[in-house]
Amino acid sequence: MESPFKIIQGGMGVGVSNWVLAQSVARQGQLGVISGTGIAAVLARRLQSGDVDGHFRRAFDAFPYQNIAQRVWNRYFVPGGVKTKTPFKLTPMPMIRFSRALEELTVLAAFAEVFLAKDGHSGPIGINLLEKVQPPTIPTLFGAMLAGVDYVLMGAGIPRFIPGVLDALARGESASLKVDVEGSESGESFVCQFNPADFIARNGDPVQAAAPLLKRPSFFAIVSSATLALTLARKSNGRIDGFIVETSAAGGHNAPPRGPMQLSANGEPVYGPRDAADLVKIAEIGLPFYLAGGFATSAQLDWALGQGAAGIQVGTAFAFCRESGIRDDLKQQVLATVASGQATVFTDPQASPTGFPFKVVALPETMSDPGKYLQRERKCDLGYLRKIYKRPDGTPGYRCAAEPVADYVAKGGREEDTIGRKCLCNALFATIGLGQIDAQGTPETAIVTAGDDVVNIKQYLQPGQRSYSSADVLNQILSR
Ligand SMILES: Cc1cc2nc3c(=O)[nH]c(=O)nc-3n(C[C@H](O)[C@H](O)[C@H](O)COP(=O)(O)O)c2cc1C
Repeated sequence: MESPFKIIQGGMGVGVSNWVLAQSVARQGQLGVISGTGIAAVLARRLQSGDVDGHFRRAFDAFPYQNIAQRVWNRYFVPGGVKTKTPFKLTPMPMIRFSRALEELTVLAAFAEVFLAKDGHSGPIGINLLEKVQPPTIPTLFGAMLAGVDYVLMGAGIPRFIPGVLDALARGESASLKVDVEGSESGESFVCQFNPADFIARNGDPVQAAAPLLKRPSFFAIVSSATLALTLARKSNGRIDGFIVETSAAGGHNAPPRGPMQLSANGEPVYGPRDAADLVKIAEIGLPFYLAGGFATSAQLDWALGQGAAGIQVGTAFAFCRESGIRDDLKQQVLATVASGQATVFTDPQASPTGFPFKVVALPETMSDPGKYLQRERKCDLGYLRKIYKRPDGTPGYRCAAEPVADYVAKGGREEDTIGRKCLCNALFATIGLGQIDAQGTPETAIVTAGDDVVNIKQYLQPGQRSYSSADVLNQILSR
């Protein structure tokens, strides 16, 4: 069957592909995708910023369990927004066992983002999640499914057990997900669990105590090799509906090169021919696939279609358009450096606490500046990228290589793993204008990620314009 769209607007965390961007793309007939990464803290901070246009109030009013919605609203909404220089109230950090408060916030956050993205049109909407960030996954998917999400897209790991989670939630059943725990032995398992009926019972309304049957969204796995695509197609615990095949030119995290990591003279991972996915093998699987990473032109789209792909996934071009969540001043700076031919993107092998290479745009006053990086006092208060490890007493512990070095080492982490690690959580929130401020009033510093394609974004600017829209991007790619 032919795909209903040729372009997927890639999921971009944290909050870069927000509901505004996803809705605008879906209204134009392509797949709009919201980012589900860190969505609970994004909502908490938007509510603390006063929900100026009232969109989230509208989404909360549409939530089917109003006592829960009211509780979350009361916990975080600040009329008029928090005062400048007032830190945001923190949200609980994600753990294998979610606190009730965090579970409610997470479900509401995913529901609201998908509800707003889908509001007022019938175009398709997807949600993107990182496989590596496991504890929030099921409540996020449940919230998104309550709002009728059409697609789930997931990469940065091997999402073998997500199809089964989607099936269980669609049937109104309890869902569970085994999480990766460093130091655990084979046979030992640590599991995140979420029961929709228990969640709903908290609404306190006996008539609604049964979990609803929900639409099962299509599931697209994001992969970088045919081997991974084949493994997923054969060994997942449920249906996979397609693949997104991403090259190392893509923005955000990249899959590491195959084999031992080799760095170029300027310190970037070296990718070679072995890293190119075998598209013939992927096509043979027989599922629709989309190509991502430097594909945002009509010629590239044609080439992808010629390889048997159903279309392309595009991120960078949308990241800097008017509708995306990135702060306007940062978009302007990026456009200016691109226009002057000075834009550079560094594939940083160390920045991300996940250990995956992460693309960083060189911009003054951001975390790409070594001085800014060294100035920041390490702390970990969002916790989305923490790895779970087994403590000596057998219980799960949580550590992040970007947290204070002494804390990380005290938790059994290796000091050398902390070198060059950046707190992507706090930096990425600063990038979308929701950065934390410390007690002295110092704001967190932003970090901008983009793909190698960033050097081409000036093509979307109409003559005399200083910004461009998602329509400019789509028109350019779809023009023949
Ligand atoms: C700012 C930005 C943030 C991104 N964040 C994510 C993410 O959270 N999860 C993900 O799977 N991909 C992420 N990506 C990758 C995109 O979804 C998409 O696959 C990629 O951008 C396509 O390549 P391109 O950047 O050359 O267009 C991100 C990309 C950008 C530019």
